[in-house]
Amino acid sequence: MSTSFLVSGRRIFLAAALFGSHLVSVPRRSIIDMSYSTHFMDFKGSAIPSSMKKLLVTKLSPNFRDAVSLQTVPVPIPGDGDLLIRNRFVGINASDINYSAGRYDPSVRPPFGAGFEGIGEVVGLGLSASAHYAVGQAVAYFGDGAFAEYVVVPAKKTVPLPSVQPEFLTLLVSGATAYISLNNLGHLSEGEKVLVTAAAGGTGQFAVQFAKKAKCHVIGTCSSDIKAGFLKSIGCDRPVNYKAEDLPVMLHREYPKGIDVVYESVGGDMFDMAINRLAIKGRMIVIGFISGYQTGSGLKPVRTGTLPAKLLQKSASVQGFFLPHFLSEYSEAMKHMLEMYEHGELVCEVDMGEMAPEGKFLGLESVFRAVDYMYLGKNIGKIVVELAHPNSSKL
Ligand SMILES: NC(=O)c1ccc[n+]([C@@H]2O[C@H](COP(=O)([O-])OP(=O)(O)OC[C@H]3O[C@@H](n4cnc5c(N)ncnc54)[C@H](OP(=O)(O)O)[C@@H]3O)[C@@H](O)[C@H]2O)c1
Repeated sequence: MSTSFLVSGRRIFLAAALFGSHLVSVPRRSIIDMSYSTHFMDFKGSAIPSSMKKLLVTKLSPNFRDAVSLQTVPVPIPGDGDLLIRNRFVGINASDINYSAGRYDPSVRPPFGAGFEGIGEVVGLGLSASAHYAVGQAVAYFGDGAFAEYVVVPAKKTVPLPSVQPEFLTLLVSGATAYISLNNLGHLSEGEKVLVTAAAGGTGQFAVQFAKKAKCHVIGTCSSDIKAGFLKSIGCDRPVNYKAEDLPVMLHREYPKGIDVVYESVGGDMFDMAINRLAIKGRMIVIGFISGYQTGSGLKPVRTGTLPAKLLQKSASVQGFFLPHFLSEYSEAMKHMLEMYEHGELVCEVDMGEMAPEGKFLGLESVFRAVDYMYLGKNIGKIVVELAHPNSSKL
């Protein structure tokens, strides 16, 4: 039995045993190397190497540097319904350290790939995937193991893009989380007061903008005046630098009737404070609790003992949101956000580390620095790492 995939319009037949999830364990390199010194040529006429760099979790830990190492592995080969994507940009997420700590799926054992999202171009594809995609198409995907030079992703799990731009990456996890959670759980109405925590970050920037589009009054927390300036620029009515202002006092003074909706990403004391400031019929959406992720448990304690009374007294609610549970709404959300961006109705702020001490995040090696940068609270917008390929300049 044989199968095939397409590269630059040429159909290449390889033994079926070379494909699929057993790829890494198959000693395929010698077979391929008999006829091709490299895997194949991509659409720009560049050789796709037989090996590549990939970040693998080799030890479970929330300390990303301890958990993850840069390794050389074979470039994967797409199965029938798959795309081989050459990553150009990968996104950093707060949960990269939850994932490296094994908190997503405790049954998974290292080694496994790190990284949740990327964009790039199709450089090879399976035959049935070629019904909808072609070599050279810009695509985005949201899936495990993205911190790699090349990835194989089922075509049906990818989003076609007009071009490879880092701004599109901001929508895949960060934008989609804000869009879908506020649509489903926020029940926003005009004039309501919305508090967004970590508002100048990857997902916070979108929560601010979507709440403004719903004609709400938006308060956004952040840790510097520069971030506060950015928040102002995207329409936030009341940016608060919590390092310079006493946040609970400010909220009590300026919003005596309380907050209607909280988009809460920080946890710990921030969670407690926000619960205390909920208005009658207030809704808190628990998006994350980044202040606890670096701890062994992944959580900072909150004062939940009195929570039932606090909720009852205000007919308030607290609801969690986890993007993978809402994938049925994902493609519609992406479509709408891409349209908004195209029409200039959405700011997709990207932070590629230009202001980081060692400069721009370039190459998989810089993912470690990028994660540190996030946990130092330095980023404005979505942290994105660029992967330079030898022929990137041709695009
Ligand atoms: N539920 C979901 O499906 C989902 C999906 C995506 C993201 N999230 C959550 O959304 C939150 C933000 O994630 P992101 O990837 O978009 O990150 P981000 O907001 O781009 O970056 C994290 C921001 O959090 C603040 N921060 C960092 N370390 C902190 C600490 N130790 N204590 C308090 N604040 C800290 C910093 O902003 P300031 O210092 O300016 O506050 C930092 O810029 C996280 O809780 C993440 O887990 C959830």
